[in-house]
Amino acid sequence: MNHQRVLVLDFGGQYNQLIARRVRDLGVYCDLKPCDMTAEAIRAYAPIGIIFTGGPNSVYEEGAPRVGEEVLRLGIPVLGICYGAQLIAATLGGAVGRAPKSEYGKCTLHIKNEAPMSEGIPSESVCWMSHTDYISAVPAGYEVLAATDDCPVAVYGNIGEKIYGIQFHPEVVHSEYGNAFLKNFLYRVCGARGDWTMAGFAEEQIAAIRARVGTGRVICAMSGGVDSAVAATLVHRAVGDRLTCVFVDNGLLRKNEAEEVMSVFRDGLGMDLVKADAADLFLDALRGVSDPEKKRHIIGKLFIDVFEREAKKIGAADFLVQGTIYPDVIESGKGKSAVIKSHHNVGGLPEKVNFQGIVEPLRDLFKDEVRRVGLALGLPERVVWRQPCPGPALAIRIMGEVTREKLETLREADFIFRDEIAKAGLEREIWQYFAVLTDSKTVGVQGDFRTYENVIALRAITSVDAMTADWARIPFEVLEKVSTRITNEVKHANRVVYDITSKPPATIEWE
Ligand code: XMP
Repeated sequence: MNHQRVLVLDFGGQYNQLIARRVRDLGVYCDLKPCDMTAEAIRAYAPIGIIFTGGPNSVYEEGAPRVGEEVLRLGIPVLGICYGAQLIAATLGGAVGRAPKSEYGKCTLHIKNEAPMSEGIPSESVCWMSHTDYISAVPAGYEVLAATDDCPVAVYGNIGEKIYGIQFHPEVVHSEYGNAFLKNFLYRVCGARGDWTMAGFAEEQIAAIRARVGTGRVICAMSGGVDSAVAATLVHRAVGDRLTCVFVDNGLLRKNEAEEVMSVFRDGLGMDLVKADAADLFLDALRGVSDPEKKRHIIGKLFIDVFEREAKKIGAADFLVQGTIYPDVIESGKGKSAVIKSHHNVGGLPEKVNFQGIVEPLRDLFKDEVRRVGLALGLPERVVWRQPCPGPALAIRIMGEVTREKLETLREADFIFRDEIAKAGLEREIWQYFAVLTDSKTVGVQGDFRTYENVIALRAITSVDAMTADWARIPFEVLEKVSTRITNEVKHANRVVYDITSKPPATIEWE
């Protein structure tokens, strides 16, 4: 590993992975590590710079996480963000206390003094704050570089020591020059060369997988989605035909999906890919079940059973590959966040099937980064740009009980929607788009007859990482075509509605 790297020390803030990904976006490799890493371990890691993240504590509280002063004396540039900025100030003899006025959200940042950190930043800009404590006095030798109306020390630092603190959150998009501050830190303060790319990430992962797996055998549950495709491709590059992929056809997939997966990965990429036909099993188990979480659990459990059965047929495997990406990890309540939905691809398998280890090469990445890795690996565009489909697939897009007839209706409606989006050239602009079969029936008129049929809802969103989303402003003409085609071509559908809710408060999927 000969590229430069930055160490992000995690003090428990909400946006820590986002900080890491911003650093990667700026072309510098970085790792997120627990905040109790010793000065010695840090020196051995040899980063070009260290970032202390935000966190929920107050530095003056007993038991609040701290770092020894020796970390700040290593001669390695340091940037503290939010709690991290307060921690540096408190450690070096500055003053931190409860702010007379907390700041949440957008504030105006005024530059007070020039420094490499603030180069190219206009004298006034918008920054995004979220704090109740503040720095009331900077340590000796440090100067205030920027302030807001209610925060006298919004950015401060010591040019010679190359240590800086930023009270606001430069990593969130609402901070207008947040990225510019981070870039200044990396390039002007730490001397970054920007030598890290997705191709570099891929190479490193392939080497790491090869070293870890050795001569072992690997299996992978392939869903056809970009995450498992990229994860499997990395492993395939590393160990070749010692990888076997299993594709479980649960009967809940979109139109033509199973055929496409087989043709792209087995025929196109030459992977050893086995298809398990399990539609009857899944549909029988789902009979009479309408609770969304129950559906997810049934599907998750059956998926494991089927996979286990296939794995036994293949023979002993030492490692399991999973296409887990970072939003899966937090949304499933690993770490401290609440469980919103149980994404079945995170837990389950490892406990059930006995492997020596799990290979999750994409665990720290966001979806758009995974796509970039996929492109760097030379995967076909249609794989890389395939829109995400949840593991439980159409079962959580059919409100209420899942039946074969409803699946047929939804599949056709969804196919039409996808077809029209493609024809309108909107596939890349819209992050995810699909049809939902609601559990409402409404009255309609077709020919001279009264109908009483299902309402199809269309959901289309724009997003960067699926953690937040906005509804896509699809041109009315496109919506009109979709609506006309669905009501004309799809059996048992007589009305189409468009979902105009963002996430939050809604989620992307309806269940
Ligand atoms: P929500 O509905 O939680 O969806 O806003 C966020 C993203 O995750 C996908 N999703 C899933 N993916 N297994 C998955 O692999 C699941 O159980 C699951 N549930 C939702 C969803 O399609 C969206 O892209």
